[in-house]
Amino acid sequence: MAARTLVVACALFLGLCIIASSKPADTTHAYCKIVWLLALPCNDVHMAVVTQIKTMASYKLGSVTPMLIQADHTSGVRQVEHVNFTMIPTAMDQGCHVEGSSMSEFWYSLLDNGTNYCNLHSVMQGSGLTNAPGFEEFTNEWLCLGFGLSTCK
Ligand SMILES: *[C@@H]1O[C@H](CO)[C@@H](O)[C@H](O)[C@H]1NC(C)=O
Ligand SMILES: *[C@@H]1O[C@H](CO)[C@@H](O)[C@H](O)[C@H]1NC(C)=O
Repeated sequence: MAARTLVVACALFLGLCIIASSKPADTTHAYCKIVWLLALPCNDVHMAVVTQIKTMASYKLGSVTPMLIQADHTSGVRQVEHVNFTMIPTAMDQGCHVEGSSMSEFWYSLLDNGTNYCNLHSVMQGSGLTNAPGFEEFTNEWLCLGFGLSTCK
């Protein structure tokens, strides 16, 4: 019971964290934000994400720094989403807090059927990071449009 309460509090806390750290909401573009926690050093997560994006034909890797990986994903004609993976080491470098965000560039529909969620989740899944020690994913409909409709969950 105590553990369960802690998990819920933590998820709420992380949700608030992303809301607090994001710029004022852009309500004209579909978007998704996710927080992942992993019991792996950020260097390992960084390497796995970059390697995975390079293997996926629909992604084009953009600027890569130790903290931030940027890419563009093409989901259809004139449908491009910008994707960011931001790594934040947790205490003692033994874990990594990753913030993923995906935003549609040209496509103004807010009902994206989970496209932006899948853009982020597919990279984590394809890289095998969803099976990494301590893996947790936090998001919800407010942070991630279409999350409930997406079929890549
Ligand atoms: C990705 O990060 C860059 C640099 O901080 C920012 O300008 C851009 O808006 C971000 N894109 C998304 C989809 O969060
Ligand atoms: C979302 O899914 C619905 C039902 O499958 C479909 O009719 C609609 O065109 C989709 N929307 C987009 C923007 O792909």
